[in-house]
Amino acid sequence: YGTSRILENGELAIGEIPVSKLAKTYGTPLYVYDELFIREQMRAYQRPFQHAHLPYRIAYACKAFCTIGICQIAKSEGMWLDVVSEGELYTALQAGFNPNHICMNGNNKSERELRYAVHAGVGLIIVDNFYEIELLAAILREQRRSLDILLRVAPGVEAHTHEFISTGQQDSKFGFDLKSGQIEMAVRRVKEHEELHLVGLHSHIGSQIFDVEGFRLAAHRLAEQYAFLTSNYQLELSVLNLGGGLGVRYTEEDTPTPIERLTAELIHVTQDAFSSFGIPFPLLMLEPGRSIVAQAGTTLYEVGSRKEIPSVRTYVAVDGGMTDNPRLALYGAKYEAAIATRMHEKPTEKVSIAGKCCESGDMLVWDAQLPEAKAGDLLAISCTGAYNYSMASNYNRIPRPAAVLVKEGFARLLVARESVEDMCRLDCILDE
Ligand code: LLP
Repeated sequence: YGTSRILENGELAIGEIPVSKLAKTYGTPLYVYDELFIREQMRAYQRPFQHAHLPYRIAYACKAFCTIGICQIAKSEGMWLDVVSEGELYTALQAGFNPNHICMNGNNKSERELRYAVHAGVGLIIVDNFYEIELLAAILREQRRSLDILLRVAPGVEAHTHEFISTGQQDSKFGFDLKSGQIEMAVRRVKEHEELHLVGLHSHIGSQIFDVEGFRLAAHRLAEQYAFLTSNYQLELSVLNLGGGLGVRYTEEDTPTPIERLTAELIHVTQDAFSSFGIPFPLLMLEPGRSIVAQAGTTLYEVGSRKEIPSVRTYVAVDGGMTDNPRLALYGAKYEAAIATRMHEKPTEKVSIAGKCCESGDMLVWDAQLPEAKAGDLLAISCTGAYNYSMASNYNRIPRPAAVLVKEGFARLLVARESVEDMCRLDCILDE
């Protein structure tokens, strides 16, 4: 993907840097991020709006990968930022992000987090439930401030990987239930508080979505609510937020629609939905996470031990695993692996890539076709830029890897490698 290419000697280069050089400089495991690819994804979301001269906000959902450097890139590309915790908000502010271009999501924002968000001056809060309406209103009243909010709706659209099913999603911990009329109740409550400026509605139907159908249904249901609320409650709504969820290519089984085309389709379905209810096109807001950073990231590992079980399976173990990428263990996620210095060689064996943690579920790839993987080889797993570092753990007291940003032959650290001292830093020694 992006600026990855295979050099004449058969070695993978990312951002014009041979991966063996990156591994030597920064050690393994190592997350390598392709800067130009990230920037291009951010631009691809904005282009269809710019071409059509339509108002928009694209908020990078930084839960996918949140470091100061990534927030700086988002800022320089004119993005908004979607945060869901004190930690993400703190990181964004450290990056010098304009707080007015930050929105906050979450189904149980704490009083402390809401206070912090209000104090920092975030531009928008997506209110999820009745408890939050009262809590936020009280904080704003006390600080004599007001704030733009959206109400999050559970639109009854369930989106799963390739498919969407239009029932069931009602059973979700997020947002106001549409069927039982909770949105109308929420609007009445909001109207009791002059410090809450309701500017629109929000929905997020799921993640790793490949087509527009689920969004079409969500846009339609939201437009219906929008029309109902504007005419019955004299509200001046202007924003529609369709959340994130665009899918990426983890393996060749995945065939996502390119961002630019899907965004154009999202604009189209929203236009359709709004015009069918006779209301003007809103400011459309999206919150992509995965599709911005997933394919920009590659993890480099060093191959270590090997176990051959005759006529059963061969395990090849690497120096990382579920601690830096828990997605196979959690979701059964599929990845593609390659021996990064011998990309030209034909596969000669089927091996399963295991991690180094003390549990059998610690796998990265089942049944990878590879050239013979030997100890010391550099193994690359692609599409690890989203929900890998951000979900990494210190299980087995394994330090988190470093992440490095590469572009046109230059590398810059995004996050330094954690040390064993870092892990012990917060430990408290008991008195004898
Ligand atoms: N907006 C909201 C309100 C969300 O809950 C999410 C993701 C996003 C935006 C961004 O969605 P994306 O564009 O990244 O699909 N850990 C899981 C993914 C969890 C997604 C949670 N919410 C994984 O590794 O697949």
